[in-house]
Amino acid sequence: MPSTGATILSREEADAAYERAGGPKQVSVLQCACLRPLFTIIRDMTTPHPEFARAARRLMSVLAEEAIAALPSMPKSIETPCGPYEGVCGPAASDVCAVSIVRAGDSLLECVRTVWPEVSVGKILIQRDEETALPKLFYSKMPPSIASKYVLLVDPMLATGGSAVMAIKCLVDAGVPANKILFVNVVATKQGVAAILEAYPEVKIVTASMDEGLNEQAYIVPGLGDYGDRYFGTD
Ligand code: URA
Repeated sequence: MPSTGATILSREEADAAYERAGGPKQVSVLQCACLRPLFTIIRDMTTPHPEFARAARRLMSVLAEEAIAALPSMPKSIETPCGPYEGVCGPAASDVCAVSIVRAGDSLLECVRTVWPEVSVGKILIQRDEETALPKLFYSKMPPSIASKYVLLVDPMLATGGSAVMAIKCLVDAGVPANKILFVNVVATKQGVAAILEAYPEVKIVTASMDEGLNEQAYIVPGLGDYGDRYFGTD
């Protein structure tokens, strides 16, 4: 496993940072019964690539629906064929952009696009700088009107938060208000959440799991290993 230039907090330090940064207010951890069996497949180190990708897609489809439902909505009264129904209505697709942090984020982006194909798309490529061992922005491409949209920023693994903070900066620099950014993620750590919220307290986070912490190589524990490699079969 690669070494990392990132500081790894102890569990106690991460817990304290998470509380200080307002984690309990800004983070929503999904509580769906369907997640545990799917997590059991993708966390299992013996699960081969095709089964990993299939279970991950099922899990991310649920996550995508929940993230879309977490965008601001308005009450909407409709009539069923048999009577009135008090419903809700979220933003139009033209008011939403899904932005992936390449490469692992592309898997989650595709699940968002499967359930909502009309949303516009942006991409951000951040990689580890081999000299500094810190994340570096290599490429970004956003729709021209991104500043007026809600953004679903998607990346399956939130470890130290270095890439996520850099990606959010990229969006804010492009004119997106931080309170219109929803970070959507499969497995998070309190250290990663704290890093995001210390820099951008108004960002909201939806995750399918809050894991225990990080090991010395900045891999999430218990986590599932390298998400991109396991999803794309490059391990
Ligand atoms: N990215 C991954 O793919 N896995 C981790 O555990 C941390 C970051």
